[in-house]
Amino acid sequence: MRSLPAVASIRAAPSPMRAAPRRFRRCCSRRIVPSPAPGIMSPCRRWRLSEILGASSLVVELGARRRLLRRLPGVRAVDGVDLSVEEGETFGIVGESGCGKTTLARTLLGLQREAAGEIRLAGRPVSGEAPRQARATRAAIQYVHQDPGAALDPWWTVGATLAEGLAIHGVAAAERQGRIAETLSAVGLDPALAARYPHELSGGQQRRIGLARILLLRPRIVILDEPTAGLDLSVQAAVLRLLRALRGRFGLTLIFISHDLSVVRRVCDRVAVMYLGRIVEQGSTAEIFAAPRHPYTRALLAAAPHLDGRDSGPSLQGDPPSLRAVPTGCRFHPRCPAALPLCAERAPATEAVAPGHAVACHRWREAA
Ligand SMILES: Nc1ncnc2c1ncn2[C@@H]1O[C@H](COP(=O)(O)OP(=O)(O)OP(=O)(O)O)[C@@H](O)[C@H]1O
Ligand code: SF4
Ligand SMILES: [Mg+2]
Repeated sequence: MRSLPAVASIRAAPSPMRAAPRRFRRCCSRRIVPSPAPGIMSPCRRWRLSEILGASSLVVELGARRRLLRRLPGVRAVDGVDLSVEEGETFGIVGESGCGKTTLARTLLGLQREAAGEIRLAGRPVSGEAPRQARATRAAIQYVHQDPGAALDPWWTVGATLAEGLAIHGVAAAERQGRIAETLSAVGLDPALAARYPHELSGGQQRRIGLARILLLRPRIVILDEPTAGLDLSVQAAVLRLLRALRGRFGLTLIFISHDLSVVRRVCDRVAVMYLGRIVEQGSTAEIFAAPRHPYTRALLAAAPHLDGRDSGPSLQGDPPSLRAVPTGCRFHPRCPAALPLCAERAPATEAVAPGHAVACHRWREAA
């Protein structure tokens, strides 16, 4: 009779999941299968097991009004977005000002109601609810505001603001001060800062308070809206180190919204590039930065300032068009150096370039 292997040797055996690179995952039948690109059918129907937050064909309309019996249409700030965020990763969303990044974040949070499409949280559909109910269902997702100073009440001390959040979530008064001191330490602040008012804090400290505020609520997913905007380089680096440490310590999934590509490159595992309400390219950060396939991604990368003093490439021509007059066909065609007549007529479909890398451009194959 064969003897059973020792427990230690079973533990030491490398798991296929650990050994597999990020863009592969173990499927239900224990084979390693490639991750599908958004909108692409997977070889395994249960590939979404590791997805923590996802959206399909998401549409968000802003500014729609009713006047008497007429409905005045608004603008589609998010128009047909597909994304899938995996548990434990840092997922970047980049794009020019006004492309819809904050609107997308507010909709994922449940603060803004979607006009169409589906949102999934931990595999469960959560779309279609009114904002109050949606926030309750999606309490596992928290948001760090684009302007951390504006998110703090100038008349309240930091401690009072933090305690209010805990009170709303039913934490007993006796427990609150201890939790606040512990969380302020976790974000690298002296617990004595709880006695200060927001105007007595630096920009970097305000951002850390913003982080402490949401960490107190024990989220699983944190959406950070421009977390390093307006900070000098040394404070930026400290905030990024802190985020990495917090992700590990609290087991967070981070969604990182930014227009700063150098920051995105340093912290994100995967990135989605947004243009005028749509995701035009999505993939691993390494692949997107090494071999971008969409002309807009290329232009953004070319225009990014280089820290080593090299000149940046040519900046994008013109401003993005208004959402009230969205160009026909490919929305980027009026600014695209590679546009063909076809581009003004037909919107490109999102196609898989490689496992986990998708692009929406008629000419992506020529951009190898
Ligand atoms: N209430 C509203 N009614 C109509 N349009 C709106 C409304 N709120 C925002 N918009 C428009 O929706 C678009 C998306 O705005 P959003 O704030 O999501 O952009 P963003 O990518 O976060 O920009 P930024 O990088 O400047 O923060 C913008 O063009 C904006 O002008
Ligand atoms: S589809 Fe045409 S206009 Fe749009 S990005 Fe590609 S080449 Fe440019
Ligand atoms: Mg914004």
